Parts: sequence; structure tokens; C-alpha cells
Amino acid sequence: MTTAPVTPDISQLSTRELQARVRALKQELNAVILAHYYTLPEIQQVADVVGDSLALARAAQKNTADVIVFAGVYFMAETAKILNPGKLVLMPDADAGCPLADSCPEEEFRAFRAANPDAIAITYINSTAEIKALSDITCTSSNAEHIIRQIPEGQRIIFGPDRNLGAWLAKRCGRDMLIWPGYCYVHDAFSEAFMLQAMAMHPGAELIAHPECREEVLRHASFVGSTQALLDYTQKSPSTSFIVATEPGIIYEMELRSPGKSFIPAPKDPANPRSVCRQMKLNTIGRLYLAMVNRQPEITVDPVLAEAALKPIARMLEMSA
Ligand code: 13P
Ligand code: SF4
Repeated sequence: MTTAPVTPDISQLSTRELQARVRALKQELNAVILAHYYTLPEIQQVADVVGDSLALARAAQKNTADVIVFAGVYFMAETAKILNPGKLVLMPDADAGCPLADSCPEEEFRAFRAANPDAIAITYINSTAEIKALSDITCTSSNAEHIIRQIPEGQRIIFGPDRNLGAWLAKRCGRDMLIWPGYCYVHDAFSEAFMLQAMAMHPGAELIAHPECREEVLRHASFVGSTQALLDYTQKSPSTSFIVATEPGIIYEMELRSPGKSFIPAPKDPANPRSVCRQMKLNTIGRLYLAMVNRQPEITVDPVLAEAALKPIARMLEMSA
């Protein structure tokens, strides 16, 4: 007999109270909470590990918890489950998908590979388990360049599903890659015109950008890097002000690490100034608490699919050790 969710009424509980209950449940369940930098501060404050996609995949691989609670988007929790088939993996909201990952349907990608049989497929971790299973190596924005540089010259490469990251990597590594045309709606929303306007408004600020942004934006940035690399850069740079062209959730940690510096979210357009990942923001403290109380939504992956998808993830972890 399965137990129905108890769904306690949390409407009267403050964020602080919910956070205290989450911390207590963590002990009770021997759970680890992994949260992406794009989640809300209320989530980051209770997480055991806050990181970018690579750091979170590594944390999912190396932990002694019985339960992994993943506050991020679906492909991240799915990756954690693939790395830990025997553990209970929960998400605060299983509807928190990644539109970039969903922009690469399995059958179309299979046909793309079949049309280029001599090419190896390196795919961004922002992809479904089915796409990972069709790939040779997974990568994140933190290790993609390092991985591509290990591929012998002359070996053709398929890269997917992010066209902007693919174009940036092709240029950085001097490789002519076959790139899948997907994109992240959050990063792709930034335009050159509004970026130039922001730079003119804040002449002392450095523009820093994630490689999921379009080339017309990246070409004006003084630094381009993954979420973690951007964070590290803001600590090291002597500048005191930055225009941040990525998901603004990272600004919470940037401010914590560099209290004297100012961080301006890059404008999407004058009417809608920031470009926010709606899926990441589905992770609220209330949903996180209920997921831990109810032990659901649970993330499951078909074992045969998981075994195939594990290979490129394991290859990535080996190549970026
Ligand atoms: P990283 O965490 O690898 O920088 O990727 C950014 C992102 O869009 C995550 O969904
Ligand atoms: Fe996907 Fe973009 Fe959101 Fe990251 S920021 S989860 S790539 S939609």
C-alpha cells in the first residue's frame, strides 16, 4: 500500500520557519540539498552545496547521503539519479524543466548523428537522458573548452544543444563543429543594443557574460565564462562594478563574496530589465519542504537508459578531473 502525500498546510509558516524545518528534515532523512546558483536566496541558504552544473554533478557523484534533494532543473536531478541509481532523488517541483534541454528531440538528434557518422558527439549537460545516451561525452560550460581541446585535430565534432555556447567554443578552440541550433531563452534574450546602452549608463562597470549569450553580446564582454568562472572573476578583478549578463540569481553569491562591489543585472529590454529563468524559480522553500515531507516528487530514470546515459557523464568527469 502506498502512502498518500500528507501535504501539511504551510500557508502560515514564514520562510525562516520553513528553513528551520528543512534543516531538521535533512538530519532525519540523511539528505543532502544541492542547489544551483540560479535558485532563490531562500533555497541557497539551506543548501549543503550551491554550485554551477559541474560542481553539482560532482557533488551528486561524491556524497554519503541516502537522499539527494535537487533544487535546480530536471536534467540536473536526472543526472544525479543516473549517478546514484540506488538513492532517492527528489526535486521541489518536477515541472522545473529546462527549455534548452527540451529543444533537442531524441529522434532528430539520432538522425543528425546518423547523417554525420564520423563525428563524435559532445553534448552539454543541459540535455535529456535520451540525448546523453546518444552522445560520447557530456560537458558543462565550465569544462567544455578543456574537453574539446583533448579531442584530436581532424576529428569531427557534433556539439549540442546550445548554439551560442557551441559557436563560442568553436571560435575559442579553432574547431569547425556541427552545432545543434538550440538556445537558452534566458541568455539568448540579451541583445547588443541594450548591452551597449547599459555600458553607456554605467561607464565604470565591466561587462561579464555567460557563453550561452549571443556572440553580439559576448564580443563586448571583458570576461566570458561559466557561472562559476564569472563568480570567481568578480572576486579577482580589481573592478568594483559589473554588468552581469547571465541569470541574475548568481548575483546573490557575488554580493556575499564581494560585499563592497556592485552588480547590475544585464538588461533584457527597457520594459523587462532582467532575464530570469522561470523554471529555476519554481524551487521555493515551501515546495522544498513539502518534497522532503512527502518524499516526492521522486526522480526516476529507466535503468537501461540510465546505464547508457552514464557513459558520457562518467567520461566528462574523467576528462575534467
Ligand atoms: P552553468 O551552471 O554550467 O554555468 O550553466 C548555466 C545554466 O544555464 C544552467 O542551467
Ligand atoms: Fe535551462 Fe537556461 Fe534555465 Fe539554465 S537558465 S535551466 S539553460 S532555461
